[in-house]
Amino acid sequence: MRLGFIGTGTITQAVVTGLLRFGVAFDHISLSPRNAETAAGLAALAGRVRVCSNNQEVLETSDIVCLAVVPQFATDVLGELRFDSRHHVISFIAGISIDEVHRLVGIVSKVVRAIPLPAVAEGMGSTAICPADRVAKSLFSALGEAVEVDDEGKFGALSAVTATMASFFAVLEAQASWLVRQGLDYDAARSFLSGYCVGLAHETTRTGKPFTELIEHCMTPGGINEQVHGELSKRGTYSQFGDALDRVLMRIEGRV
Ligand SMILES: NC(=O)c1ccc[n+]([C@@H]2O[C@H](COP(=O)([O-])OP(=O)(O)OC[C@H]3O[C@@H](n4cnc5c(N)ncnc54)[C@H](OP(=O)(O)O)[C@@H]3O)[C@@H](O)[C@H]2O)c1
Repeated sequence: MRLGFIGTGTITQAVVTGLLRFGVAFDHISLSPRNAETAAGLAALAGRVRVCSNNQEVLETSDIVCLAVVPQFATDVLGELRFDSRHHVISFIAGISIDEVHRLVGIVSKVVRAIPLPAVAEGMGSTAICPADRVAKSLFSALGEAVEVDDEGKFGALSAVTATMASFFAVLEAQASWLVRQGLDYDAARSFLSGYCVGLAHETTRTGKPFTELIEHCMTPGGINEQVHGELSKRGTYSQFGDALDRVLMRIEGRV
């Protein structure tokens, strides 16, 4: 497998790091010269990772091409390149549909979209893929969860839930601040909560149980988990997520 990346920024760095770290089979990886520092850092990790002198050389030396430039530069960057019918294109570019990518790259063997999240570097990513694709699935399932969907509406919905990262940390910060108000050092509070949330996160991958079962499992009748869950449910805390995500999806789909 000859892999190429157009755009060597945050997400390419995470994906290439993960591919190397988790021993995913490939012949070589060709990188765009930009960002030069990131590209040089990745090339230093393995002889099979090399920095090309320009984007066209990336295409000439690869069969599977990942598009990882920011959306605002996509038209200019891709418009200058000559893709080939052998290219299997995996676009990470947010907000650019499969049809639009096809228009930008011309005749290629296939175009799929994927949203690898930065934790792929640690083998703990979640990657949405649309449509189902054997190549993308084999790459990203080695780096965490890889979920294939058959239409871009569902793919947009999976993109929308990635808007909850900051609020995930905000929930932890609310608990840390509360512990500080009870007299704990912030470092002790943070340390306790990080171990606590890693344990809970691990529980989600250890079994395939629905989250409702995990909720029930934590709630001793009349216990303190039941108390907090009940209070938050009554105040509509969880339903606020659905409302906020509806508005995110409207943005993603260009409806606002
Ligand atoms: N970050 C995420 O969590 C994430 C997750 C999934 C998908 N994505 C998508 O992945 C894409 C990349 O995101 P990112 O976070 O990796 O962005 P990023 O860190 O800004 O990386 C984009 C890279 O493109 C390079 N670039 C600019 N002009 C170029 C050109 N003409 N040819 C080749 N490379 C060029 C930039 O190099 P310079 O630094 O030299 O300008 C930069 O390193 C975006 O479309 C984003 O929507 C991101």
